[in-house]
Amino acid sequence: MAKKTLVTSALLYANGPMHIGHLVEYIQTDIYVRFLKLIGEDVIYCCADDTHGAPVSINAEKQGITPEELISGFYREHVDDFKRYLVEFDSYHTTNSKENKYYSDLLFNKCKKNGFIYKKKVMQLFCSRCKRFLPDRYVKGSCPKCGAEDQYGDVCEKCGASYKATELSMPYCSICRQKPVEKESEHYFFKLSVFSAKLEKWLTENKHLQKEIVNSVRHWIKEGLNDWDITRDGPYFGFKIPEEENLYYYVWFDAPIGYIASTENYCRNISKSGSADDYWLAPGSRIIHFIGKDIIYFHFLFWPAVLMASGFNLPESIIVHGFLTVNGEKMSKSRGTLYTARELAEGYEPEYLRYYYANMLSRKIADLDLNFSDFTDRVNNELVANLGNFCFRTLTFLEKNLDSEFVGIDMDNELIKEINNRVKTVHDAYKECNLKDAIREIMAISALGNRYFQDNEPWKLIKEDRERAREVLGLCVNIAKNLAVLIRPIMPAFSDSLQKQLGLFGLTWESIGFKLEKHRIKGAEILIKKIEKEDKEKKDSEEKEKKDSEDQKKGKAGTGKEKLMPFNLKVGKITEIDDHPDAEKLFVMQVDLGDEKRQLVAGLKPFLPKHELLEKKIIVVTNLEHAKLRGVVSQGMLLAADKDNVVKVIEPKSSRPGDRVYIKGYDDMQGMINIKQFMEHKRLVKDKHAEIDLKPLVTDSETIEIDMPDKSEIR
Ligand code: 2FM
Ligand code: ZN
Repeated sequence: MAKKTLVTSALLYANGPMHIGHLVEYIQTDIYVRFLKLIGEDVIYCCADDTHGAPVSINAEKQGITPEELISGFYREHVDDFKRYLVEFDSYHTTNSKENKYYSDLLFNKCKKNGFIYKKKVMQLFCSRCKRFLPDRYVKGSCPKCGAEDQYGDVCEKCGASYKATELSMPYCSICRQKPVEKESEHYFFKLSVFSAKLEKWLTENKHLQKEIVNSVRHWIKEGLNDWDITRDGPYFGFKIPEEENLYYYVWFDAPIGYIASTENYCRNISKSGSADDYWLAPGSRIIHFIGKDIIYFHFLFWPAVLMASGFNLPESIIVHGFLTVNGEKMSKSRGTLYTARELAEGYEPEYLRYYYANMLSRKIADLDLNFSDFTDRVNNELVANLGNFCFRTLTFLEKNLDSEFVGIDMDNELIKEINNRVKTVHDAYKECNLKDAIREIMAISALGNRYFQDNEPWKLIKEDRERAREVLGLCVNIAKNLAVLIRPIMPAFSDSLQKQLGLFGLTWESIGFKLEKHRIKGAEILIKKIEKEDKEKKDSEEKEKKDSEDQKKGKAGTGKEKLMPFNLKVGKITEIDDHPDAEKLFVMQVDLGDEKRQLVAGLKPFLPKHELLEKKIIVVTNLEHAKLRGVVSQGMLLAADKDNVVKVIEPKSSRPGDRVYIKGYDDMQGMINIKQFMEHKRLVKDKHAEIDLKPLVTDSETIEIDMPDKSEIR
């Protein structure tokens, strides 16, 4: 019987949108899994959103929603994005699930019973103003290794060092900025140190692991492994540790267990056969993880050690890839190179990105660069000019000149031999996850097809020898059919439409060959479209024009030339302020807007005391759809600037309640907007000015100022 194989990608954090860097791994894994399925292996692809930990709760607090609300919103968004990019899981689960709770407790208890978990008193940072321990992102300070400022309590983003929060110099609470004190707490530790020899053995004996990584992991082992604190003090968004009052699993303990939980979800709820044990406990199964190079330590040391300690199967292979750069630089929000998956899909066909990434992926961990001009060239010169062209010309020629009919071919043919050899190379390249080599060979086969078509001049043959023309086209159709299979893992939608045009369906690797004959094809349509060089810019500016003109229609009729605000703003004054009855971080405020009063709900409690807000003048977005925040209606939103967890309310000092706040030369728009539309506009501080879409806000009596650093975000 075929081996059962489980393939996973690293779990996506549920506290933000998916970006094009994340997609590298999901596309890489999806291609690999689709290939295994195509050759008939018994394989499943499982993954999940990684939902626990400090970033999620901090983000939720900021937005005035619960962590559960936050993660369910991103879950839906992520699932949508995967669909768009044709990443197809057998199970896409969440770590905040009953399956994950079950397996987290199971592995924890097994490790404990087997003597690999012990309890120890440790000093933890505690904020006496917020009255809470400060795990991970709740504390910031200077890195104890390199001195970089504003680093979180666990790792330095500058030098990559990891340390204990108590080692930070000049620590401060990331919520209220107060200096924390140290307070004792009892934590659970996993005895990583006792696994050194076993891990070393596993690394040495496992021939599937990438050499360069094995070497650096062995180096870590040699330097000595520290036991691992798998606990966080509450409040913490995660699973409570059994029989504990205020202790939770550290997110990195339950996250990889999410691989098991997602497998269980597949077996119990989706395929309704077997259980996760078939993969994680049964002998002879195969587990393959795909990860990025930033999480090697977790996957090559912690995770296998936990599996060893609890008696579960180890991964057979962990395939590591490098980071994505954009136009040669690290992706960055401020440089405008941090595209979300969704944003890119608005400008480019998602399948093109799959093709482009595959072109750069191999078993090396070198970084990959998304260069937009190279991207366009590759799509146009390879996909369109070679593959698309060959399939399209074959199909149209048959349709136009031979009534879509062709005949079988002489199998003893040099070209067929060469193609068969290359097909074998494609197979091995996919199997080794050398997607780059697979593409090179596929394109070579397509080029051979093009040359064969050209050399045989079927346009002449149809006049001289129609039967021979049908034979030539017969070979071309067979090549096209083979290409539909070969490219399928990378471009499944392209493969589907090509198959459809060929009058075929459900081809597998076994369908590769040259035996298709006397078959009637269905008819040709353009399969792949060129990217016009300026497509994206054109699209962007067209969209802007369209939007402007729509805005104008909504606005006053007249010259048709008025510029309109993206949303409407007015000066307000806070006249009353209360705690939200049901949410720890929210205030409910009554606001005087000159000719009307409104109620606003805002998540300012962690940042500002009530007395500082009362009687303060603020700026209110007046045409935002009203929303209920934890049961209390908010009739708009006030503007505040936010950077590195410092939040200041924007205060129009010399204006009066009811005054319009606007961009010079802009009229108010009509109609309401939703929060997404609000977010779509750039809202940043520059030179102490509040700017919307890069233009400063003013009232009739002042330019709006705010004492925050450049690029603070306004919301
Ligand atoms: O680094 C990350 O993005 C993590 N969310 C990956 C978790 S992978 C697994 F261990 F859960
Ligand atoms: Zn605090």
